Amino acid sequence: MTAKRDFVPALGKSEFTNAYDKVIAVMTREKRWRPLVAKALALNPGETVVDIGAGTGSQAILLKTQTPGIRMIGIDPDPQVLAIARAKAEAASAAIEWHEGFGDEAHRHLGEGFADAVVSSLVLHQCPMEVKSGILASAYRLLKPGGRLVIGDYGLQRTFLMRTLFRQVQMADGFEYTQPNADGILNELIPAAGFAGLEERNVFPTHTGSISVYHAVKPA
Ligand SMILES: C[S@@+](CC[C@H](N)C(=O)[O-])C[C@H]1O[C@@H](n2cnc3c(N)ncnc32)[C@H](O)[C@@H]1O
Repeated sequence: MTAKRDFVPALGKSEFTNAYDKVIAVMTREKRWRPLVAKALALNPGETVVDIGAGTGSQAILLKTQTPGIRMIGIDPDPQVLAIARAKAEAASAAIEWHEGFGDEAHRHLGEGFADAVVSSLVLHQCPMEVKSGILASAYRLLKPGGRLVIGDYGLQRTFLMRTLFRQVQMADGFEYTQPNADGILNELIPAAGFAGLEERNVFPTHTGSISVYHAVKPA
C-alpha cells in the first residue's frame, strides 16, 4: 500500500478552508497584490499558463478574465480547494483546466516544455524546503525555453513590523516551513532551480507580512 502524501492546507487546517477567501481578502489586501502578479506575468492571448498550488482559484480566475485568450491550467493537491475553485470559475465563466496533484510533480501530470508562464502564489512559504525546491524544479520543466516564472509569496521580511505581522502566518502554517521564506530563501532557491534574471519586482506590505513578487526566466 502506498502512503498518502501530506500537505499543508490553504489556511493551515482543512476545517478553515471554507473561510480562506474571506481571510485572504482582508488579511492580505489581495485586490492590491494579485494584479501585481498579473502585471509581472504580462500574458498574451494564445499563451499557456500553469498555476501551481492554485487553491481556491482566485489568481487563475483573475488571469483568465483579464486575458481570456490564454490557456489557463491550475494544479493543487487538495480536492477541497479545487471544488471551490471550479465553482468560482464557473460563476465567472472562466474556462480553466483544474488538476489534482502536487506542485513538485506537476511536470509528470501535465507534461514538459509546453508552458509560456508558470505562476505560484502563497504556496512556497508553507512547503518544506525540499518541496519548495521541487516545485521550482517542476516549474522549470513545465516551461518552454524563454518561459517566465512569477512567484507571489511571503518573501524576505525586512522590518521588525513585517516580521512581527508574519508571525500570524507562521502560527497557522508552522515555523519550520515559513521561516526560510522570512529569511529570504527564495532569492537563493529560484536561481538554484536554473532560472535567470531574478528580480523582486514588488514588495507589498500586508497585515500578515510583506508579499514579494518575483520574476525570472528559463534561459532560452
Ligand atoms: C495559501 S494557499 C494559496 C492558494 C492560491 N495559490 C492563492 O493564491 O490563493 C496554498 C495552497 O498550496 C497548496 N499546496 C500545499 N502543498 C502543495 C504542494 N506540495 N504542491 C502544490 N500545492 C500545494 C494547498 O493545497 C493550498 O491550496
